[in-house]
Amino acid sequence: MCGIIGAIANRDITSVLIDGLKRLEYRGYDSAGLAVIDSDGELDLRRSVGRVVALEKICSDIHGHLGIAHTRWATHGRPAENNAHPHTSSHQVAVVHNGIIENHESLRQSQKEMGFPFSSETDTEVIVHQIDHHMQNGADLLCAVQNTVDELNGAYGLGVVSKQDTSRIIAARNGSPLLIGLGEDENFIASDMSALIPVAKQYMVLEDGDIADVTGTTVDIYDRDRKPVQRKVLVSSLSDDETSLDGYAHFMKKEIHEQTRAITETLEGRLGANSVLEIPFGENAKEIFDAAREIKIIACGTSYNAACVARYWFEEFGIRCDVEIASEYRYRKHVVNDGTLFVTISQSGETLDTMAALEMAKGLGYSNTLCICNAPESSLARASDLTIFTHAGREIGVASTKAFTTQLVTLLMLAICLRRRALNLSAEGDKIEHEIVLELRSLPSQIEHALGLEDDIIAMSKHFADRQHTLFLGRGAHYPIAVEGALKLKEISYIHAEAYAAGELKHGPLALVDADMPVVAVAPNNELLGKLKSNLEEVRARGGRLFVFADIDSGIHSDDDTHVLHVAPVNNYIAPIIYTIPLQLLSYHVALLKGTDIDKPRNLAKSVTVE
Ligand code: G6P
Repeated sequence: MCGIIGAIANRDITSVLIDGLKRLEYRGYDSAGLAVIDSDGELDLRRSVGRVVALEKICSDIHGHLGIAHTRWATHGRPAENNAHPHTSSHQVAVVHNGIIENHESLRQSQKEMGFPFSSETDTEVIVHQIDHHMQNGADLLCAVQNTVDELNGAYGLGVVSKQDTSRIIAARNGSPLLIGLGEDENFIASDMSALIPVAKQYMVLEDGDIADVTGTTVDIYDRDRKPVQRKVLVSSLSDDETSLDGYAHFMKKEIHEQTRAITETLEGRLGANSVLEIPFGENAKEIFDAAREIKIIACGTSYNAACVARYWFEEFGIRCDVEIASEYRYRKHVVNDGTLFVTISQSGETLDTMAALEMAKGLGYSNTLCICNAPESSLARASDLTIFTHAGREIGVASTKAFTTQLVTLLMLAICLRRRALNLSAEGDKIEHEIVLELRSLPSQIEHALGLEDDIIAMSKHFADRQHTLFLGRGAHYPIAVEGALKLKEISYIHAEAYAAGELKHGPLALVDADMPVVAVAPNNELLGKLKSNLEEVRARGGRLFVFADIDSGIHSDDDTHVLHVAPVNNYIAPIIYTIPLQLLSYHVALLKGTDIDKPRNLAKSVTVE
């Protein structure tokens, strides 16, 4: 999703901006651009559709000490050069913008009446004209931005430069993350710290309503009431180590194979001999767990699928658990029972709908807010009472893999902590806790084993590459695993994939089943296996082609219409984590055969910072 970087320094900053844009590519985008105040004091604007390398090619002759740059993920107006940011007004002012301006139509109307020409279909262009308008009426750059944001409804992270004042960048935030990176006699703005890894370690996070006046040596921040405020200086722990392919063809493949290490690190320090330890979750964890009698989980995308799996664990352990998509939760009324813990799950920690749901929840009487997150320096982590980090390491492939399985591991540990309270057990737990802890310890080697299915999955993937549609089936906690498998396939191979709870097959989707529709099923050896087998028979009876990941002892075997890949026996609690792996590999290899852009699938973004 859209990314911002800006720089003011005593050196040429064009390469810093281009490098920063490359580091923001993982978020997903369709066009990119930059505006630099060049050595003649002119505003030099370059934009292009497609990858940042295309922009880089047309920027080799630009040099300057002050500039802003942007990767755009289209919301208002198609991906096109004229819609790419920065946007300019009268060749005087340039703006980059993340977010959506809701009153852009009325502003556009009044600006047209004032004679401002429009060159894009974006909501952003009204911002730059409005700033220009205020400057033409005598305001300096800071005041012009202040006056403008007072007239905007909606979400924004803004970076603004003007050729009339080449000593500063103005940054403003409302609902769209923005931070200031602090260098030596040079400063930066960025939508996330990964853009600034080589140039700044220290940074400040702007809060909603803040406007920052950033020069090479100073940063002055004003809050919503325009009072000067200090924001804490933080030190980033991000490094470049995680951003190389290490010989893999794609980040997604690397990240699938990293799951053994990612899970090991997520478990690190959190397991005792026979129990899950609570102290490592944070100073206030015990108090927050004590107060939690019910759980409400909010998330989007893959993180939502993780929540749906966890609901089975929580409820099996006697803890009421409700799960909802953030964008739905935000727009309805809620009845909150006493002692309900509000949990958000987010890989990026920046998903706007999840963040907005958390802000809304704060006024609704939940006992506490807890976030399960993979990004320590993220907005959700900062805004929650307690954050439990999944130590997956940075995930770059847009389709989430290691973030998902580490979320599951974390949710299972959380469920165990709450189970003790629900069942009045000691901190050392009981037989079931001991069993789960043993299984969690051996999870990395079990994942390794599941990764060993890859060659067979490569052979299986050939049956999918020329298909238009697929159906995924699962039961119980493996129904959301089927949903996640279908999501992976559609995200990166662009094959339409739908998941159903296998028992629902007869209520509709069975009408679609024929020899052209591959049906994928996950069949662990659990109490629902018999029921699932009957559902698979319903598919076979209609001439459907089955592709089943089945426990070796399930009694399901290959024949003419059924391709079975056997999975080693696995404990029921951790089975959903293990059965995720072959589905990830299947989608990867189908996409590879189709030749799609696996790490950056069309139209999608890694970090979704708009509604
Ligand atoms: C986007 C990503 C998904 C992700 C979802 C939620 O759609 O492409 O991979 O699952 O956002 O993101 P979050 O960072 O909140 O987990």
